[in-house]
Amino acid sequence: MSNVLRLAIVDPNDASRDALKTMLLGMDMLWLEAECSRYEFFADVVAQTNPNIGLVAIDKDPDKAIELVATLSEQSPDCAVLVVSSSNDGDLILRAIRAGAKEFLPQPVRVEDLLGALGRIGERSGGRGEGKPRGSQIIAVAGAIGGVGTTSIAVNLGCSLAADPQNSVALVDLDLCLGDADVLLDTIPDYTLVDVAQNVTRLDFSLLKRSLTKHSSGLFLLPRPVQLEDVPLITPEDLQRVIGLLKATFTHLILDLSKGYSPIDLIAMEMANEILLVAQLDLPCLRNVVRLMMSFGEMEHVAGKIKIVINRAGLENGQITPKKAQETIGKEIFWQLPNDYRTMIDARNNGVPLLEQAPKAAITHSIQSLARALSGDKDVPKPDLEGKVAGGLGRFFSFLPHKSETK
Ligand SMILES: Nc1ncnc2c1ncn2[C@@H]1O[C@H](COP(=O)(O)OP(=O)(O)O)[C@@H](O)[C@H]1O
Ligand SMILES: [Mg+2]
Repeated sequence: MSNVLRLAIVDPNDASRDALKTMLLGMDMLWLEAECSRYEFFADVVAQTNPNIGLVAIDKDPDKAIELVATLSEQSPDCAVLVVSSSNDGDLILRAIRAGAKEFLPQPVRVEDLLGALGRIGERSGGRGEGKPRGSQIIAVAGAIGGVGTTSIAVNLGCSLAADPQNSVALVDLDLCLGDADVLLDTIPDYTLVDVAQNVTRLDFSLLKRSLTKHSSGLFLLPRPVQLEDVPLITPEDLQRVIGLLKATFTHLILDLSKGYSPIDLIAMEMANEILLVAQLDLPCLRNVVRLMMSFGEMEHVAGKIKIVINRAGLENGQITPKKAQETIGKEIFWQLPNDYRTMIDARNNGVPLLEQAPKAAITHSIQSLARALSGDKDVPKPDLEGKVAGGLGRFFSFLPHKSETK
């Protein structure tokens, strides 16, 4: 629990304290250490439990509450005090800040405001590890050509990550027209991305979690809209907010992108920490990788996050070698997944993840290792780039500004 923010709350008003608690309990990055209904006991509670954050709702008795804020700042300087009030009286805000409050949030508290305040508190206590929120890892899975294996990788990566009890993982199907993540997991969800996107301003964390479908692997799924007509209802701004909420709830978010590189896909890529660009070792696909990389190079928040993942390595003898592909793309191949059509298609047709269908198969191990590598495990062996060399690629890449030197 060391990288979760621990929080204690005081609010003599039962209704608003319960509302706050519901919001806080849904946030994976927070641990509710203690709650208190009396101002006079709270300084002791904080001294005994040592939370990172002390949340003081001051409306019930502002004078007494601000006195408490001053006491907390003096007695427990390591506890960042966050004041909540429905008043927008400048004088009151000033008094709270002078008494030592680090943040002042309007009541009723909006999730986004709270996240912003927590982020600032985390940054200020930066470097100390303990006080920093754990944060969420967002992994976008994009493909260089149709049918390259994006969804297979996204779903199975999600299930592999979810197998670790320390993780909470959600997969969002952003192939809004044709996505099939729900089929791969054999689920019939009650809600889809369109429901969540349209209600995003009204959602709290527990409602959000209930809108997602939980698979037996532990993975939560937010599927694409059922009706094609609903697709335009999801705007990039909505998606941004949905991802923001999910980020505060889950340790890992997997975003399965479409091949359209639409504004929705681009927002997802911008918000991701890592973008897996899935490719296969054939010319049309590698050519697209080079083209995409050129365009990504122009996008400030995208280029540096791309990781090339080769899928179906070893498919056929004539395949371009990974080494040659790497030279041509001009970028390191981060991962290679072996070809195993039988296992993949069985898992797909049975609607079960690889971990269940074939826990011992090489493809399953490879996805598990990819999950570990993405989680920062340095001991995972890197892919072998040796293999048989296929013919020259130069003419296929002649559109490049500097003509490829590969022969
Ligand atoms: N490593 C692999 N080996 C063999 N077949 C694979 C592999 N990865 C994916 N496939 C197959 O490729 C097809 C397309 O996969 P899918 O994940 O739907 O791609 P995308 O989401 O990019 O359209 C599916 O039939 C899937 O079973
Ligand atoms: Mg797909």
